[in-house]
Amino acid sequence: MTDGVEPTQTEIERAVATLRSGGLVAFPTETVYGLGADAANDDAVRRVFEVKGRPTDHPLIVHLADASQLDEWAASVSPTASLLADAFWPGPLTLLVERSSSVSPAVTGGRSTVGLRVPDHPVALELLRTFAGGIAAPSANRFGRVSPTTAAHVLADLGDDVDLVLDGGPCRVGVESTIVDLTAERPVVLRAGGVSVDRLEEVLGHPVEVHVSAEPSNAGARAPGMLEAHYAPNARVVLGSEHELVELLIDILKSANGPVGLLAESALVGLPEDIVVLEPAGTADDYAAVLYSRLRQADRLGLDVLVCVPPPAVGVGLAVNDRLRRAAASSQG
Ligand code: TXA
Ligand code: MG
Repeated sequence: MTDGVEPTQTEIERAVATLRSGGLVAFPTETVYGLGADAANDDAVRRVFEVKGRPTDHPLIVHLADASQLDEWAASVSPTASLLADAFWPGPLTLLVERSSSVSPAVTGGRSTVGLRVPDHPVALELLRTFAGGIAAPSANRFGRVSPTTAAHVLADLGDDVDLVLDGGPCRVGVESTIVDLTAERPVVLRAGGVSVDRLEEVLGHPVEVHVSAEPSNAGARAPGMLEAHYAPNARVVLGSEHELVELLIDILKSANGPVGLLAESALVGLPEDIVVLEPAGTADDYAAVLYSRLRQADRLGLDVLVCVPPPAVGVGLAVNDRLRRAAASSQG
C-alpha cells in the first residue's frame, strides 16, 4: 500500500512540530498529496496560498482525523452530513457545510462555508491524530498545475518552499476527492472525484444533482477553484475516441511541433508508427490512479501533443473525464 516507504513515528512527530510552529508539511492522502498547514494558524494558512500561488479567495479543505470532529468545524451537523460522513469517511469525499464561528475566514476564502474531509491514508490519519487539530490543505502543486500523486512530484513542484514532505508512496485513488455541497436544500456534487455519484445516490437514497463542467461559464462560483484552467500539463491535450483514432493521430502528426503521445485504457493496434504510446492506463480505477503521473510523463518526454482516450464516464471514470476535459480546455488557450 505504501511501497515500504511509510514514515516513522519520529518523522510524524517532526511533522507535527513543524505544523505547530507554523510550517508547511506535505502529506500523502488516498487521492493526491496535500500541502498542509495548521488550520488555526492564519499566518501558516497565508503561506499555503503564497507557496501555491493561489488566489486567497479560493478556500482550502480542512482535513480531520475523524467524523466526531465535524461539530467543532461545522455550524451544525445535519442528518445528511452525518449519513455521508458515516458512510464515506475516511475516504475521498469532501463535505461543504456552514462553518462554525471558530473556523478562520483565512481558510475559507472569506466564505461562510467550509470543506471538510477525513482522508483514508494511514500516514495522513496518523499525522492528524497526533496533531489533534484540523489541517488545511490544498493539493501540493503550484496553482493550475497537475496534482501530485507521489512525494517526488511534490518536491519537483514545490522544492524548498515546503518544510517537510512525508512520503507515503503513490496515491491509491489518484484524483481528488468528490465535493458535495450540503449548504443548499439538496446535496449538489461540485467536483467529481474518488467517490462515485452512484455510491452517493445509493447512500442518500435519491438522485443527486451534479454541477461539474469543464466549461468556465458553468462550473459555478460555488467552488471557485474549479473555474481555473486546472490540471494542465505543458503538452497540448486532445481528447479522442477509439473510433476514428488513427485518422485523428495522422491529422495531429501533420501539424505537431514535436512528438505526439497517446494515453488509452488498453493497448491499441494499427497506430501510426511515430506515436509515443504511453503505458495503457487499464480500467477506470487504474486510469485515475495513473492519470496525473502520465500527464507529468508527457512533459518529461517533451510531447507537443498528448491524445487521450477517456474511459467510460461511470464510477471514478467521471472524474477522469472531468480532469481530461479541463486539461484539454486549458490547452486551447
Ligand atoms: O482530494 C482532495 O480533495 C485533495 C486532498 C489533498 O485532500 N485536496 C484538494 O484541495 O484537492 P484543492 O484545494 O486543490 O481543491 C479543493 C477545491 C477547490 O476547488 C476549492 O475551491 C473547493 O475545493 N473548496 C474548498 N472549500 C470550499 C468552500 N468552503 N466553498 C467552495 N469551494 C470550496
Ligand atoms: Mg488542487
